[in-house]
Amino acid sequence: MKPLVAGNWKMNGSLTGLTELELIKVGAPKDVDLLICPPFHLLAPFAAANVLDIGAQDCHALPSGAYTGNISAEMVRDTGAKFVIVGHSERRQYHHESDVDVSLKASAAWRAGLTAIICVGETKEQRVAGEALAVIGEQLEGSVPEGATALNTIIAYEPVWAIGTGLVPSTADVAEMHNFMREALNKRFKQEFRLLYGGSVKPNNAKELMSVPHVNGALVGGASLKAADFLGILGAYN
Ligand code: PGA
Repeated sequence: MKPLVAGNWKMNGSLTGLTELELIKVGAPKDVDLLICPPFHLLAPFAAANVLDIGAQDCHALPSGAYTGNISAEMVRDTGAKFVIVGHSERRQYHHESDVDVSLKASAAWRAGLTAIICVGETKEQRVAGEALAVIGEQLEGSVPEGATALNTIIAYEPVWAIGTGLVPSTADVAEMHNFMREALNKRFKQEFRLLYGGSVKPNNAKELMSVPHVNGALVGGASLKAADFLGILGAYN
């Protein structure tokens, strides 16, 4: 399966960041799909520049209405973006999004013709308590709607405790989780989804993480802001 390496800029970046996209395009290996998810104000200009595929970091479940400050999946599509991340742990944590909310947003993404990147991940407490597989099983069940296909959906496993902390799970734990997700999704949907790993992916650990079976790419936060770091991660595929 062709890998996808996606960058999530979170609430960072400005128009000058287009230079980073151009550098990434020039330096990236050819057999990897690339995606950058900048904040909303950069979606349209970055998509119009037609350098890399562009995605949003969130969308509302409804197409329009009195929801001050929100952006619908249709509006994301109007910018020229093709993807949208839903259920990122920062949305689940700071905006109290439940699995049901996430599944409605994924359906909204499909309604607008976007590919949904659905994020799941356990907390440190849950991993220590030996509940990681059960938690992810439940999140997949609740956050991935019926109708998911390998074309309209990508799954990102992002342990909450690994995001922005410099901590990463052992390759054995990543292998166990991705194998578990592969089997659960195959059973329910009879499809081979792209399964990304996310959480402190850096140039110095990317090769190891990306070579774990059933890891089909990465969702990268901090190290996606600078082309040099992102290209360092992409070096895992050279
Ligand atoms: P990080 O973020 O790479 O900075 O840990 C990953 C993410 O939140 O997608």
